[in-house]
Amino acid sequence: MPYLESADPRDPRGLRADAPLLDAWLTNTERAEAGQLTPMITPGHKQRRDLTGSVVAGDAPLYGALDTIKHADALRAEGEARAARLWGADWCRFSVAGSTHGNQALALAAGAPGQEVIITRILHRSLLLGLVLAGLRPVWVRPEMDPASGLPTAVATGTVRAALAAHPQACAVFLGDPSYVGTIGDLAGHAAVAHEAGVPLVVDAAWAAHLGFHPDLPPHAIAAGADAMVTSAHKALPAMTQGALVLARTERLDPARLDRAFEATHTTSPAGSIMASIDAARALLARDGKDLCARLLRGVTAAKQRLRQVPGLGVLEGPGVEPTKLVVLLAGTGAHGKDVEADLIAAGMPVEMADRDTVVPIVAIADDEDQIAAFADTFAASVERHRGVPRHPVATAAWTVEPQTVLAPREAFFAANQTVPADAAVGRVSAELVAPYPPGVPVLAPGELITSEALNALREVHADGGRIAYAADPTLATLQVIS
Ligand SMILES: Cc1ncc(COP(=O)(O)O)c(C=O)c1O
Repeated sequence: MPYLESADPRDPRGLRADAPLLDAWLTNTERAEAGQLTPMITPGHKQRRDLTGSVVAGDAPLYGALDTIKHADALRAEGEARAARLWGADWCRFSVAGSTHGNQALALAAGAPGQEVIITRILHRSLLLGLVLAGLRPVWVRPEMDPASGLPTAVATGTVRAALAAHPQACAVFLGDPSYVGTIGDLAGHAAVAHEAGVPLVVDAAWAAHLGFHPDLPPHAIAAGADAMVTSAHKALPAMTQGALVLARTERLDPARLDRAFEATHTTSPAGSIMASIDAARALLARDGKDLCARLLRGVTAAKQRLRQVPGLGVLEGPGVEPTKLVVLLAGTGAHGKDVEADLIAAGMPVEMADRDTVVPIVAIADDEDQIAAFADTFAASVERHRGVPRHPVATAAWTVEPQTVLAPREAFFAANQTVPADAAVGRVSAELVAPYPPGVPVLAPGELITSEALNALREVHADGGRIAYAADPTLATLQVIS
């Protein structure tokens, strides 16, 4: 792929001229490596390698390293303003705590304790904890389901319109788009519906930082009319782990409130390396995004073609699916996702999610076509090793949960609770959040009635080797219920 070669191997694409935080990080770490700094500030490793070793290499705080503690905010604001311009937003902040923090910041910015929000029930658990922090009351909307794959598609605009009509006091609409499995909805339609009702549309686009940067990709949420979006720069873009962007338009969301909400749970010592990597990823996307997305589209299209040739194997695709998402459907081969995952791990190709019927590798603009092709070949070979009797896919608990909310999440989170044997918990109200992870969608949330369906579904995930996250007892022998 043609790009301007840079003389500096630490900045091979020469991004620093358009990336102020990256430029500052390069300058600071260069001086540290040259032994020119005796920092009388944090971090406590003081740039030495003889104590905790190279694990701290490249670590430089925003405040005190990228610029002085007194002046680094100007540098930060300059990097964030460039990102706001790229996404067409009025406001942007770089988070070093993932879309998890971004979701919680947007929940804190959207309303006041006790207010209702229209919100997708296949939300990531971070957003549910955002409701706890902000004291918001959920009015759940569910996506449609694709019976062929057992996976969720998108929340219909009519569903949100009806929810807003039934709850005219709701203060915002929160959707996740694309979904964890890459299905996409009519965000422009959702924005119109939300705006007709006079409320902002907030979108968790954790997996979609690349959308809108190639004509064959759907527009990103801000371009589609959303008032705010959060996206993980460490997921779809080549930024460091934890790097995320929160972007907003300020017609329906107050920028000062957004800042307060963002700062409420962000560290006061953000890692300059993470901030600089978000800045670098933004500069890369601005300059080379179209070429990199084109390469990704070619790689994923070829991989889908290859995988479709394997008898019984399917891939999720169609107009309602983000075209660079690779979601492999195993049911028709009889192979179990756990076995295929084990082969992929052994081959050095760990994937993001594998349950019985579905495998989700993360393919991103950093992958070149050969790598994606090698992955598809390894995947196909593994399926042949584990072939079995074809079966119908079964939708997992995360996608099908129909909760009965008894108490608002915040009330339940702080209520007195007790631990009881799981069977005795059926019919009681959950005090805890329990989510198979991935995908991290709560099957039980604080304040929800524990049904035998939910418990059985969680037990099935556990029995199948899935990780049960956030439960006080991840074996599910006991559950915590409201006393
Ligand atoms: C839909 C969704 N939102 C938010 C998050 C949280 O992102 P992060 O890991 O950047 O905190 C995830 C994580 O997987 C996710 O799937």
